[in-house]
Amino acid sequence: MKSVTGAGVVVTGGGSGIGAALARRFAAEGARVVVNDLDAEAARTVADSCGAGAVPVGGDAAGEEGVAALICAARRELGEIDLYCANAGIATTGGPEAAEADWDASWQVNVMAHVRAARLLIDPWLERGSGHLISTVSAAGLLSMLGTAAYSATKHAALAFAEWMAITYGHRGITVQAICPMGVRTGMLDGSNPVAEKLLGDSVIQPDAVADAVIAGIADGRFLILPHPEVAGMYAGRAAETDRWLRGMNSLQRDVEELS
Ligand SMILES: NC(=O)c1ccc[n+]([C@@H]2O[C@H](COP(=O)([O-])OP(=O)(O)OC[C@H]3O[C@@H](n4cnc5c(N)ncnc54)[C@H](O)[C@@H]3O)[C@@H](O)[C@H]2O)c1
Repeated sequence: MKSVTGAGVVVTGGGSGIGAALARRFAAEGARVVVNDLDAEAARTVADSCGAGAVPVGGDAAGEEGVAALICAARRELGEIDLYCANAGIATTGGPEAAEADWDASWQVNVMAHVRAARLLIDPWLERGSGHLISTVSAAGLLSMLGTAAYSATKHAALAFAEWMAITYGHRGITVQAICPMGVRTGMLDGSNPVAEKLLGDSVIQPDAVADAVIAGIADGRFLILPHPEVAGMYAGRAAETDRWLRGMNSLQRDVEELS
């Protein structure tokens, strides 16, 4: 798929932030959009703002039952799903000492949500020879994010899963792409965290800029969609000179510790 015009699209976590921007842009481009969010009211508000081409489907997009219910409702609305955007995500703070519940929720929403959706989507897509999965990962999935081990680890896992899907099904008509932004001004990065602001402040972009990058990314088909193009150089630097990259990140960590 090079354009979403006429496509049946699902956006999870579409009630705010990046997901809301994606839903609105896809609808403006002529897609039929199912806007999902755990916050059903938020999903409804965003779907209403998209015009006639969008419907809300509130509910969980991570657990096995929630994903099954969402995909079933979306198929009722759209026929087969052409594009599934696994966008819902959560960010918790801390390292290994963080609560089991935070680690578990991060795995469920940031990783297993993608696995469970793919499990239900892949057979019909292989049968018809086309299907498109876009995962909202993060630059944290290519690099790391200070202060949050669960986010960094689960976003790496989400990226690994998306790569695996692309490798395994790329020759059978399935397109898989990963959106990997740095800071985006949303509920997740609302300006209230001084550490995040120090790390990301100058480079923070608006959700609409992510939607622009996604539309361009769908047109060119590249696996990595990088709304902050400089992330490509950082990722290459991490791979080529891992110890230098780790020293640089550790130096940032020490700067951040001085803030608190
Ligand atoms: N904001 C950033 O700086 C940034 C940067 C890189 C990647 N991301 C990723 O972008 C995605 C969207 O985040 P955002 O920044 O728009 O944050 P956000 O908090 O504004 O939006 C996330 C939405 O997901 C919904 N959600 C959470 N769990 C859900 C579930 N189980 N089922 C359905 N909906 C659920 C929330 O209700 C919320 O509306 C996430 O995957 C996040 O990790 C964000």
